[in-house]
Amino acid sequence: MRVLGIETTCDETAASIVELSYDNRGIIRSNEVLSQIAQHAAYGGVVPEIAARAHVDVIDRLVARACEVAQVGLEDVDAIAAAAGPGLIGGVMVGLTTAKALSLVTRKPLIAVNHLEAHALTARLTDGIAFPYLLLLASGGHTQLVAVRGVGDYVRIGTTIDDAIGEAFDKVAKLLGLGYPGGPYVEQAAHKGDPERFSLPRPMYGRPTPDFSLSGLKTALRIEAERLQPLSERDICDLCAGFQAAVVDVVVDRTRVALRQFTEVAGHPSALVVAGGVAANMTMRQSLTRLAAEAGLRLIAPPLELCGDNGAMIAWAGIERLRLAMVDDISAPARARWPL
Ligand code: KG4
Ligand code: ZN
Repeated sequence: MRVLGIETTCDETAASIVELSYDNRGIIRSNEVLSQIAQHAAYGGVVPEIAARAHVDVIDRLVARACEVAQVGLEDVDAIAAAAGPGLIGGVMVGLTTAKALSLVTRKPLIAVNHLEAHALTARLTDGIAFPYLLLLASGGHTQLVAVRGVGDYVRIGTTIDDAIGEAFDKVAKLLGLGYPGGPYVEQAAHKGDPERFSLPRPMYGRPTPDFSLSGLKTALRIEAERLQPLSERDICDLCAGFQAAVVDVVVDRTRVALRQFTEVAGHPSALVVAGGVAANMTMRQSLTRLAAEAGLRLIAPPLELCGDNGAMIAWAGIERLRLAMVDDISAPARARWPL
């Protein structure tokens, strides 16, 4: 089984060919990603109009390249999958419409994939783990703790009441004059800083339900930063270290609570899985590894190239769905909002 996956929900245009292996994992035959970061950096965030146009400009070339690298033709794939949301609607429409056109021309089934589901199932592509498992999905747009019980069977245990974790990293980076997207810059600066110089709040820490709130932490950091103006490099590194330590503390605490609640909704988890762009953060990974071990579980974090948005995760979600004959009609809608 072999599927083409197309991803255009945010600022990455991506196309990939993935095959199902004999041991039920994915073999990534190609995974082409073109980031638009340079085109959005000047604005300090993704500009939807620019994103949609940029997807149109490169999508054909990228699909052709994914096939070329994988050394397969479109006639050799079993289905065409595209992220149909949630995301910036202009971009979603580009990817989904491309997939529809390819599906019509090749007479291969269309699979309209939920982008969040694709992040959620990536651990099965890489590690072939069994259902159920606890997923911490942490990206620029989403922060969710989800019991993954099966394909299309998700129970959300916790979420954020304000900013997403990646968004908080991005806002802090912007506040401190670091680059975009902020996560990697904050992590780098934090590495050189003292996490204990500032005592920043840990919002929601200790609460019985595993929800997040990050805007208060961001505000506390802004107040410290304003007090210190002009900021020295040391100040910036210490603020980043303090912020990252606070976020990691909160994430570990919230995930611990979610692990406890998991049993009620889904039984015993096979693993703790972290996904989304924030999963690239090494301090986060180390702390979650310890938490998982505490619970007698393995932490599964995707390799860096599969943490951020990519086509392989869409192709894999396509494989998971195709195996269950969950294919879509040509009328499948593009959806800006689409909860798991
Ligand atoms: O999953 P993703 O590529 O796109 C979506 O938002 O769907 O995630 C991007 C987010 C950005 O907010 C970025 O700042 C964050 O992931 N991120 C990080 C790191 N690398 C990326 N956050 C913290 N530490 C990192 N190393
Ligand atoms: Zn994503």
